[in-house]
Amino acid sequence: MSSGIHSVQHEDRIFPPPADFAARMGTLHVPDLATYQSMHERSIRDPEGFWGDVAKDFHWFKPWSKVLEWNLPDAKWFVGGQTNACFNAVDRQVEAGHGDEVAIIWEGEPNAAGPHGHEVRHITYRQLRDEVARCAAALESLGVKKGDVVTLYMGMVPELAVAVLACARIGAPHSVIFGGFAAQAIVDRVQDAQSTVIVTCDGAHRRGTVVPLKANVDAACERLPDVRHVLVLRRTGTDVPMKAGRDVWWHDVVAKQPTTRACEPVDAEHPLFLLYTSGSTGKPKGILHTTGGYMVFTAATARWTFNLVPNSGQVYFCTADLGWITGHSYIVYGLLPNRVPTLMYEGAPNWPGDDRFWSIVARHKVTHFYTAPTAIRSFMRWGDRHPAKHDLSSLRVLGTVGEPINPEAWIWYHEKIGGGRCPIVDTMWQTETGGHIITPLPGATPTVPGSCTLPMFGVDAAVVDDHGHEQPANTGGLLVIRKPWPGMLRGIHGDRQRFIDTYFSRVKGMYLAGDGARRDQRGYFWIMGRIDDVLNVSGHRLGTAEVESSLVGSKLVVEAAVVGMPHEIKGTGIAAFCVLHPDHAANADENMRKRLMEHVARDIGAIARPDMIRFTNGLPKTRSGKIMRRLLRDIAAGKETTQDTTTLEDFNVLAKLRESDEA
Ligand code: WTA
Repeated sequence: MSSGIHSVQHEDRIFPPPADFAARMGTLHVPDLATYQSMHERSIRDPEGFWGDVAKDFHWFKPWSKVLEWNLPDAKWFVGGQTNACFNAVDRQVEAGHGDEVAIIWEGEPNAAGPHGHEVRHITYRQLRDEVARCAAALESLGVKKGDVVTLYMGMVPELAVAVLACARIGAPHSVIFGGFAAQAIVDRVQDAQSTVIVTCDGAHRRGTVVPLKANVDAACERLPDVRHVLVLRRTGTDVPMKAGRDVWWHDVVAKQPTTRACEPVDAEHPLFLLYTSGSTGKPKGILHTTGGYMVFTAATARWTFNLVPNSGQVYFCTADLGWITGHSYIVYGLLPNRVPTLMYEGAPNWPGDDRFWSIVARHKVTHFYTAPTAIRSFMRWGDRHPAKHDLSSLRVLGTVGEPINPEAWIWYHEKIGGGRCPIVDTMWQTETGGHIITPLPGATPTVPGSCTLPMFGVDAAVVDDHGHEQPANTGGLLVIRKPWPGMLRGIHGDRQRFIDTYFSRVKGMYLAGDGARRDQRGYFWIMGRIDDVLNVSGHRLGTAEVESSLVGSKLVVEAAVVGMPHEIKGTGIAAFCVLHPDHAANADENMRKRLMEHVARDIGAIARPDMIRFTNGLPKTRSGKIMRRLLRDIAAGKETTQDTTTLEDFNVLAKLRESDEA
């Protein structure tokens, strides 16, 4: 299990759903634990019956002939059915007479609109449909066809959601790249996906500065000869060069399109998107999600987990970026079918002040707030006075995602943000799972700080040993899912073997999540951290191998080992042990450390910047040549600051002492 501040917790405070919660929500989809249990039991015993019933609430151009076909490791859901995820998110609402309801509330970075101005847009389902149809037609005018992967590298502007939906509309899978990633990340992902069209912005506002998105795309395109078109949205007004024949402006190409492009009926298993995420080795992998199962699973889980009620005054605010799975599933695809306005924001949580989110909550009367534990720990550090300044009484349900939440942060969130009256849903899931796999339901599940509690409907989660046998209560083991569920990944783009090796090899016949976990005497799940070389930095996944290869790529370092270390805010910080190139070994100082940190940030993105770099003459290795990561993790954990000496370390003695342990 990875080290970290979230080791096994012993926590016995129980928070049942507040007595007046049902009254406050009006409707509860799952009103109590007994209902949860009987629904869960049915969903596992009869998945086809269960999901067939759920899927009937969606629009299908052609009904399915079979709910599930399972040939391990391949699941097909709603076989033979034809649908469209954009239609179910948008057009359907307009056709049913809800076109004037607000679909998206968007708030730009303050100050971008002028001093302390709040640039706000309310976009109705009808407006959204028209803009999505125009964007879809524009993509087609640029040569995009059904099945072509379109890369989206944009800031958090409504047009990013529009572009996502436009791709879904025409059956062109999207590949969204987080706007915080740098040029090399774009190159890797565009190449792997063989994508020839990129949609971007001139720049993105963040903390009063402009992130040069278009410049990053230009730099990437120097290494991407196959990119035919770049569609550029003007957001910041920054001067950007436009390459003739390749680059076109959104306001030129999209604005002039008709709104008539209808949704393309696609097979239930037609690819909806690729989303790249870090694995334990090598390059990020393109996780493939398909249309029918993902659409049904995200919309249904959003409804259950957050108890969404259509057009009932609820306002839902998820602070994630659309560049991550949380944004895909729980800002766009899972929300829009539920007719609860989804609030997107541009900028940062601490700009122009540390109360940015609370100001948003108060002004928009947000009822549902969904964020990451790392953010909550920052809020705590910034101080109680920031939430205290604002009226947060509209809040009903709070959520967390991305990493285990430490009980102190949970309690603070509950009291200072939720006013003690809002259930907290600690949602455990992954890019690969498409949607929530283990989570409390706010009106049904008593919560315990630090536990993600019980499995979602249709998810047969268990903690097992390597042979697939369930572990007794309070014994750590591997988190697996024993049966297919509609939102599960369908593959890794272009790498069938890696798909099988990563998820379906270690424990026979089961999906391996890659996390260690235990269940307590109540059957509640406690996630104990990754079992592979994936770090969870501020709730974002990062492969140690990616950071290592960036360090070596600097040419200053000949060998590097990256491990996680406890970090008060980020949960896990990045510690890098580097062997400098002989030409630079004499410069093992603070300057070199800064240079390497900057190099990684420029190469991969700021989230990958090491928190600590230590220089060494050689890395500690076992006799078989494996780096002794556990030893390095221990050393990194012992020194949480970057204040340590700059002298080169010699691991030989330690390594010898520890070798028997590690091998
Ligand atoms: C971790 C994010 C504990 C876990 C949606 C998982 C969590 C990885 C939780 C997936 C949680 C996510 N409690 N750990 N509530 N949610 N994780 O793909 O290690 O970016 O495997 O998806 O985050 O990260 P990913």
